[in-house]
Amino acid sequence: HFRAAIFDLDGVLTDSAEEHFLAWQRLAAELGISIDRAFNERLKGVDRMGSLDLILRHGGLDPDLAERQRLAARKNGYYREAIEAYGPHRLLPGARRALVAARQLGLKVGLASSSRNARFLIERLGIASLFDAVVDGSDVARGKPAPDIFLAAAKALGVEPDEAVGIEDAAAGIAAIRAAGMRAIGIGDPTDLPDADIIISTIARLRLERYLPA
Ligand code: G6P
Ligand code: MG
Repeated sequence: HFRAAIFDLDGVLTDSAEEHFLAWQRLAAELGISIDRAFNERLKGVDRMGSLDLILRHGGLDPDLAERQRLAARKNGYYREAIEAYGPHRLLPGARRALVAARQLGLKVGLASSSRNARFLIERLGIASLFDAVVDGSDVARGKPAPDIFLAAAKALGVEPDEAVGIEDAAAGIAAIRAAGMRAIGIGDPTDLPDADIIISTIARLRLERYLPA
């Protein structure tokens, strides 16, 4: 049965999804584009350039590649400013316990994040040592909703995809987990994540032992 649990980071273990949103909103405002939280649901889990392209299209802008790279770098500066101040106190309630519980159940524990800041962030949060493998957006060609990040995490953990469960707060992430052939646990609102196998409201409600043989 299950041998591994593979966690997303932003919005699952810490509220950095909010910092991504605020950084994108600030950049978008500078471009005269307004984005709200409903629009942001489409950005969650999507990589940096992919998110920028969605925002530019939303605003009817089409700058060249060099300008898009400058804009993406500016947003990343805003985001880094916000997460510089992160420490273990920024873990969501129950996040550390969920990782420790997975390890105590004998599961391999992986991180599968689209974010190129993921390794920095798990250091800041003080949870880097709780992962057996970490895969981020810089390790694979295609970001979520492609399955690549989750498949690479399973491989690094030495398990087959169907022996792993993925835990995600983003629609793009649930799609990636499903495309990888894994079971998907969604965290958040069922209407935002219709394709998850199971939905829980927060990481504090994760009970992986329920899906393991007795
Ligand atoms: C995560 C977030 C996305 C973010 C992406 C890339 O998946 O959910 O909102 O755009 O990572 O993050 P990065 O730190 O590389 O810009
Ligand atoms: Mg997320």
